[in-house]
Amino acid sequence: MNNMETKCILEKIHPDNLEDRDRELLKRAHEAASVAYAPYSDFKVGSAIRLVNGEVVIGSNQENIAYPSGLCGERVALFSAGALFPKEEIDTIAIVSPSPIANELAFLPCGSCRQVLLESESRQSSPIRIILQARDESVMVSESAINLMPFAFTVKNNGLKRKID
Ligand code: THU
Repeated sequence: MNNMETKCILEKIHPDNLEDRDRELLKRAHEAASVAYAPYSDFKVGSAIRLVNGEVVIGSNQENIAYPSGLCGERVALFSAGALFPKEEIDTIAIVSPSPIANELAFLPCGSCRQVLLESESRQSSPIRIILQARDESVMVSESAINLMPFAFTVKNNGLKRKID
């Protein structure tokens, strides 16, 4: 048999038990969500990334009347971090949604964002910690992007035609 099997763990933590810098990151993600441009869905998402050098990069979802032209909050933050600090590794990303229709337990990112998170992780030497929060007071913490997307799309050599500079 060649079964493929995996175990994914999201740890439920009360924010009081987070380090100060993680609580601060969550706060920044909530601030970002509060100014998201989401007039079409009314579903606001905010994200804050702490890089290894300590810089924080935020993002929020940006919608557009031509619907697919918008972008999710966490991808705005991830791509922004890539543009502003191309050589800097990501330590932790907080992703939140205050929306009343968000999953109560935690904000769970969409598949495209999980794929992008995974690629960000594959480009660096250490895993990315992910802190997720929705309406519930507690947060869910994943120690790696892999937990959010096991068995993800991949090809040999990550599909790269050349070594990344
Ligand atoms: N959205 C995000 O920002 N992140 C996700 O992971 C899922 C969905 C946004 C896209 C759109 O602006 C709104 O939430 C409703 O789908």
